Amino acid sequence: FNIIKVNNEQQFNETGAGIIASLLQTNPRAALGLATGGTPVGVYQHLIELHKQGLVSFKEVRSYNLDEYIGLAEDHSESYRRFMNEKLFNHVDIDLNNTHVPSGVSGDGHKAAEEYTQLLEQAGQIDLQLLGLGHNGHIGFNEPADELKAATHVVELDEVTRKANARYFNSIDEVPTHAITMGIGSILKAKQILLMAKGADKAEIVAKALKGPVTTQCPASLLQLHPNVVVIVDQDAGRLL
Ligand code: F6R
Repeated sequence: FNIIKVNNEQQFNETGAGIIASLLQTNPRAALGLATGGTPVGVYQHLIELHKQGLVSFKEVRSYNLDEYIGLAEDHSESYRRFMNEKLFNHVDIDLNNTHVPSGVSGDGHKAAEEYTQLLEQAGQIDLQLLGLGHNGHIGFNEPADELKAATHVVELDEVTRKANARYFNSIDEVPTHAITMGIGSILKAKQILLMAKGADKAEIVAKALKGPVTTQCPASLLQLHPNVVVIVDQDAGRLL
């Protein structure tokens, strides 16, 4: 791993955004794999700044998000489609038709997952896949399990994941029980992976994922098999490295 330890939130966001921006400067037609959650919000804000300064364009970028809740309408305040539109897409020059988030409202999650798998196959290799890290080691919504799936699929969310994400809802009961996520195979196919984690509550899982055994019980540990992973952590999350 190429591990970058930063000193503060601003550096965290600038470093992440900088890596994405320089990719787009050399390859304006790049395919980006994108994540939601708290971790990338500041990164997206900084990318918007860079765009406003005329330093980066998304005009020809194609994007593929990792996951989506099942059962939340696209305009629901917590749907990942809405998150992406509000936190990034609406503020840059990306063509919304070139942005892709799995559909959580098709009525048939398995079919939607299959369609997303096909879409990814047609897309070819993702140039850079941005990842956050769940407290249980999940990436995308690939939760710890005896077996992991390679392709996009429907998952039942872990209780810890629903609890962690309940902060965005009125109560945990409103957090969907299922989601659609890219599989580990699709994630590992990306040319480059950018894993980002911040905060003391991520320190243990960061160390487990990067230095522990490669095991399906910690899906992020499979990143140890990928030849080109950049990790950005703040001092808190990187404390045990
Ligand atoms: C989001 C995603 C999740 C999050 C993870 C960390 O699209 O796939 O794996 O990256 O749950 O979430 P935060 O960043 O909120 O700590």
